Amino acid sequence: MAPSPRDAKPELKVLMNETAEAVNRTMDRLLPAAEMAEDRLYAAMRHGVLGGGKRLRPFLAIHCANLFNVDTNRSRRVAAAIEFVHCYSLIHDDLPAMDDAALRRGHPTVHRAFDEATAILAGDTLLTLAFEILSDPETHPDPYVRCELVKSLAQAAGGHGMAGGQMLDIIGETQEFDLGTISRMQRMKTGKLMAFACESGAILGKASEPHRRALCNYAHDLGLAFQVTDDILDVESDPQDTGKDSGKDAAAGKSTFVSTMGKSEALQRAKMLIKQSSAHLKIFEGRAEILKDLAEYVLARRA
Ligand code: IPE
Ligand code: IPE
Ligand code: MG
Ligand code: MG
Ligand code: MG
Repeated sequence: MAPSPRDAKPELKVLMNETAEAVNRTMDRLLPAAEMAEDRLYAAMRHGVLGGGKRLRPFLAIHCANLFNVDTNRSRRVAAAIEFVHCYSLIHDDLPAMDDAALRRGHPTVHRAFDEATAILAGDTLLTLAFEILSDPETHPDPYVRCELVKSLAQAAGGHGMAGGQMLDIIGETQEFDLGTISRMQRMKTGKLMAFACESGAILGKASEPHRRALCNYAHDLGLAFQVTDDILDVESDPQDTGKDSGKDAAAGKSTFVSTMGKSEALQRAKMLIKQSSAHLKIFEGRAEILKDLAEYVLARRA
């Protein structure tokens, strides 16, 4: 079963489900249909994207965009592009050369359901599809906005973002990192894409610099807290709940907050970060309560 936002409070849960359904429809439309000899590639992409997931990054993109009254057709396309990049990162993260995982979102990982070469290509194609979507005039009529979206996503996913963070994560299996390096690694591998999700709303809405910065700061703390809770769940959760393997980090000897400071101190750190993340939303004068609720959910989540 795909993890559902059951740890979210009722109002947020409804909104999370509605947002996920809307973005699922958009993604289904944007994903190529299986056709001709290369069928297998498209089937693998659909497997990696459509079988569950909390759709947290799309939620952030759409609800941050709502703060600036952005047309939802536009924000949903950007949300889909971000989720495609996220799903690509998960497909590659699960490969034998990386975390060697068997289960994802309650289903066999893409390389298990298909094969390694197909999983690599499915990831590559999701990444490139994301940029195709962002550069399409349907996403925004202003080419300057489209360029900014493309550039910011490239930065979030690349060497100073997700991919660089994933490299550090692998190096951290054989080298002991101090807390500063672990923090930097988690902000890169998880925080940057979440920050882009929030920032994309501000870019689409041509928001003022202070508003844009506030959302980025919120997301950076949220992203780090999210990865800390992910590391805690890896230690104490059940694959039945999370839909993915557990105990992988310790088995691989990874450097995480949990391995360095222990579970309860890591949880304290996550609590502090969540408080800090919500504090950045003050500038919205009560209009961003849903983002505060989401931050609380990130702390409470069991999946
Ligand atoms: C898992 O992300 C990978 C991390 C960055 C920790 P999510 O927990 O958001 O995964 P899905 O999308 O809900 O499956
Ligand atoms: C992965 O972190 C973060 C990505 C950028 C994909 P993890 O390796 O901890 O994610 P899970 O636990 O497999 O979802
Ligand atoms: Mg990993
Ligand atoms: Mg992993
Ligand atoms: Mg993990």
